[in-house]
Amino acid sequence: MGGFLGFVWNQWTYKPKPLDQDKSLAGKTILITGANSGLGLEAAKELASHKPAKLIVTVRDPAKGEAAKAQIIGNNAGIEVEFWEVDYESYDSITAFGKKVLALDRLDYALLNAGIKQMQYTTSKAGHESNVQINHIGTSLVSLQILPALQKTARIAGQPSRLTIVSSEGHFWIPFKERTAENILLRMDDKETFGQQMNRYYTTKLLNVLWTRELASKVNQNEVIINTVNPGFCYSGLHRHEKTGIIKIFLWALAWTSQQGGHCLTDALVNHPDSHGKYLSEQKVVPPSKFVLSEEGRKVQTKIWNETMELLRKEAPGASFPTFEE
Ligand SMILES: NC(=O)c1ccc[n+]([C@@H]2O[C@H](COP(=O)([O-])OP(=O)(O)OC[C@H]3O[C@@H](n4cnc5c(N)ncnc54)[C@H](OP(=O)(O)O)[C@@H]3O)[C@@H](O)[C@H]2O)c1
Repeated sequence: MGGFLGFVWNQWTYKPKPLDQDKSLAGKTILITGANSGLGLEAAKELASHKPAKLIVTVRDPAKGEAAKAQIIGNNAGIEVEFWEVDYESYDSITAFGKKVLALDRLDYALLNAGIKQMQYTTSKAGHESNVQINHIGTSLVSLQILPALQKTARIAGQPSRLTIVSSEGHFWIPFKERTAENILLRMDDKETFGQQMNRYYTTKLLNVLWTRELASKVNQNEVIINTVNPGFCYSGLHRHEKTGIIKIFLWALAWTSQQGGHCLTDALVNHPDSHGKYLSEQKVVPPSKFVLSEEGRKVQTKIWNETMELLRKEAPGASFPTFEE
């Protein structure tokens, strides 16, 4: 929907549903990033209840993984839950993680959920603005590292694997002035472009939508179905850097629980075989923002892809990059 009234209406009236109880994930291997808390943890708990063979949950801090383990396993003794470390801020960490993923026998589902909402301008070790580094550059590099494992599994299983990237309805609500810069990503490193409030965070969620669409355009949907999802506005630790009282009022008046947001993630990951390259919100495929669908948006999508690939090849030379047919 995208407008503020539509957002309020959906938050008040829509109630996200869990997967059908009889949905079996037997024999499947599922990867979820950033699942020691919030929506990712709830999605992991829900997926575990459908009894996959293996659930791989990524954490930055192994102690947080241990704390989440009992919650994820719940009553589902017998499923294998592994905690793998990856820090989206570190190219070395993502590259090492990617090598481990490639060594898996199979990977059927991958949910790229890890993210931050940093309200003050800060920079990563690589010198990029932190929301851009983690939400866009980190997520994009992870998607490239795990893609071959998803493709390999599709060939073994004779059915498409699934990849879902978590974005946000906030991608509708930003000026995105950096879009006209000669190099958009490098322009976003400049502090003066950071903007007010959630502008930068939402811009990185737009980059998630653009990246998903461009990646999907290069991958055969018979091998991997790739989509992006808005999980709704939910209570979680994501909002901890917001110091204003307004967020508390919004959370009180409008927010879904993390569990409800988790339902939106599992739905996008497991249902909707028709969603390749698409954006989901309230558990259905809907159009992304007008900008994304515009001629300018299409050009910016290609530009963001090219800039990201160039940056990653330069800054993460140890990573492996799939080749795509033109
Ligand atoms: N909550 C909402 O209202 C809402 C709305 C729209 C979209 N989303 C999206 O939903 C996703 C999940 O957010 P959430 O609300 O569940 O927030 P959350 O509770 O803060 O969870 C974020 C997860 O990402 C992990 N993470 C953060 N930085 C990382 C890094 N550098 N490397 C690897 N993992 C990292 C966190 O690990 P640590 O515990 O180690 O920090 C945590 O597991 C995000 O992509 C967010 O943008 C949320």
